[in-house]
Amino acid sequence: MIREQLYDGHKRKIGDVRISVTDRCNFRCQYCMPAEGLPWLDREDLLSYEEIARLVGLLASMGVHDVRLTGGEPLARRELWRLVELLSADENVHDLSLTTNGYLLERQVEQLVKAGLRRVNVSLDSLAADRFFQLTRRNSLQQVLDGLAAAERHPELRPIKVNAVALKDFTEDEVVRFAEFARKHPYEVRFIEFMPLDADRTWSRDRVLPNAEVRRLIHAAYPLKDLGRDRHGTSRRWEFADGQGSIGFISPVSEPFCGDCNRIRITAEGNLRTCLFSMTETDLRGPMRAGASDDELERIIRAAVWEKELKHDVNDEGFVQPLRTMSQIGG
Ligand code: GTP
Ligand code: 5AD
Ligand code: SF4
Repeated sequence: MIREQLYDGHKRKIGDVRISVTDRCNFRCQYCMPAEGLPWLDREDLLSYEEIARLVGLLASMGVHDVRLTGGEPLARRELWRLVELLSADENVHDLSLTTNGYLLERQVEQLVKAGLRRVNVSLDSLAADRFFQLTRRNSLQQVLDGLAAAERHPELRPIKVNAVALKDFTEDEVVRFAEFARKHPYEVRFIEFMPLDADRTWSRDRVLPNAEVRRLIHAAYPLKDLGRDRHGTSRRWEFADGQGSIGFISPVSEPFCGDCNRIRITAEGNLRTCLFSMTETDLRGPMRAGASDDELERIIRAAVWEKELKHDVNDEGFVQPLRTMSQIGG
């Protein structure tokens, strides 16, 4: 059944949903989680794969055709391939992708591709083992590189994107090395500006490395050509002038892209969030478990999405950081 297209109250067509499948993670990235002490959700509080598939099916029938699985770390949830299989079987889902820290990718990639996964983004913030440890609080650089290499061996899985969160006085030294990494491998490396969604609440404007600065450092070593930004995309892409590879910049702080945002999110416990920085959420699990029909769920979703925030206010005075950390939202 095809339903009416989902819109927000600012006339934006909603076409993309990010589903967090777990709040748990096997890393402890500084810009996201605390070193210890973040309580996990109970298992029965998580949406089951069948519940997720029902919500995705309903959303996809309302024109939300792009689906991304996130966490915490999505591969830390048991048999994620089962969910991939359920979602890839839905003909209204056109783009099914995964954002992972890569630690469990080598082990699972074969099954995920077999289940229908066609696209993966891997977080990798440093190419040096000691710095990788400093950032993620885990000694796992090699496993992540092995995960990327395993993904590369599956030509069905393209593009492969690498996400590097850039921090001031930290990432500068590695920028050119990342550019060389992007030139050597078929990965699109994207630099992400640090956003105020960290558990430790250490974010401050001085810790953001503006992407213009990263671009300047790369351009000096390897000239770049602007490819522009895809509509509704998070990143602006540049290719190396000699045609060997490309680089992307996600700049939510210095160049917000909220204007044509077409995204909504569902948290691991089944709350609908209309923005990364939302202060309110809408419970979908409760009504679902109380026996709500698809029509009833549709009404709840439309009402919540209608109120989607126009933009984030990170750059405004009086900005208040949401209570949830990035790991509890899903990026
Ligand atoms: P592609 O579809 O492959 O371009 O992926 P993506 O960039 O949409 O998703 P990914 O999970 O790789 O996220 C990369 C970065 O973009 C992360 O830091 C996300 O938190 C951030 N991001 C994703 N969606 C939004 C958004 O709507 N607003 C902001 N400010 N950041 C976002
Ligand atoms: N700011 C920017 N990006 C972040 N991510 C996690 N926390 C932050 C933050 N505070 C990124 C991860 C991953 C994606 C889902 O979000 O590196 O690539
Ligand atoms: Fe885990 Fe991703 Fe957060 Fe790092 S950014 S702690 S990998 S959820």
